[in-house]
Amino acid sequence: MTTNGTGTHGAIIEDTMPEEDRPLVELRNAGKSYGNIRALHGVSLTVQSGKVTCVLGDNGAGKSTLIKIISGLHQHTEGEFLVDGTPVRFTTPREALDKGIATVYQDLATVPLMPVWRNFFLGSEMTKGPWPVRRLDIEKMKKTADEELRNMGIVLDDLDQPIGTLSGGQRQSVAIARAVYFGARVLILDEPTAALGVKQSGVVLKYIAAARDRGLGVIFITHNPHHAYMVGDHFSVLRLGTMELSADRSEVSLEELTNHMAGGAELAALKHELAQVRGVDVEELPEAEDLQAPVAASSEGTS
Ligand SMILES: Nc1ncnc2c1ncn2[C@@H]1O[C@H](COP(=O)(O)OP(=O)(O)O)[C@@H](O)[C@H]1O
Ligand SMILES: [Mg+2]
Repeated sequence: MTTNGTGTHGAIIEDTMPEEDRPLVELRNAGKSYGNIRALHGVSLTVQSGKVTCVLGDNGAGKSTLIKIISGLHQHTEGEFLVDGTPVRFTTPREALDKGIATVYQDLATVPLMPVWRNFFLGSEMTKGPWPVRRLDIEKMKKTADEELRNMGIVLDDLDQPIGTLSGGQRQSVAIARAVYFGARVLILDEPTAALGVKQSGVVLKYIAAARDRGLGVIFITHNPHHAYMVGDHFSVLRLGTMELSADRSEVSLEELTNHMAGGAELAALKHELAQVRGVDVEELPEAEDLQAPVAASSEGTS
């Protein structure tokens, strides 16, 4: 069940709701238009402490628009956006960060040639000594980064190695540990596994679970239902800017989720069209529910 999602009498419900049950972040019928283009409409979503909310959808579905609203890059033009039960309207990402909402973007903001520990503290370096001889506290930063990474179960051989030498999965993991260390309560991950292989994706999923176990509310954006189902507590599927499905784990199976993502009806229609093209044996094409990578199959494999 989605708690408190209906919206109209929200204020009354909130007053009686115990604080620990109150969502960290909530969207109620939220939407966003870019001029004449309505990118998002009627979206309701809650993020709870210690839970992973997955947002799925094909390209152009509105996933990035949704997280841009929550992370303070864009403002909603319809509905409500609440943090800790209070309506907000962020004008900069800094304001979201001040509320403990941290976003790890796909193109990570790291400096590849700088050591791992230096990237961990990038922009928030530890210093020592009085002005004007204030200098970087390298030892303390190395020690803290090492401790924090270990706390998350991330073991790296050498924190002095340039972060660019780490695998994609390891770099995502460092970014997650960094957000946790700097006090994130809500962690937004924009397609962290999209460019990764199976093993590296597993690494990232493990740290998503670690962040959840530390009590963070996680928003995991992906178009891979298999990845989502491995760690998700709630699943929201976007299609053309509206929410096509919003279901708790107990209410939806992996098969159903996969079908929603694959667009079962669209695939059936496509198969019918392909039947008229010579050289394509439609009997050989997989059924919608058999597809392992629905997005690749629906948007690239058929063009
Ligand atoms: N800055 C923008 N200006 C105009 N249209 C935009 C802008 N950003 C996104 N859109 C449109 O909004 C829709 C949703 O895009 P987006 O949120 O990026 O989807 P996703 O991340 O799921 O691929 C798309 O049709 C896209 O073209
Ligand atoms: Mg996107």
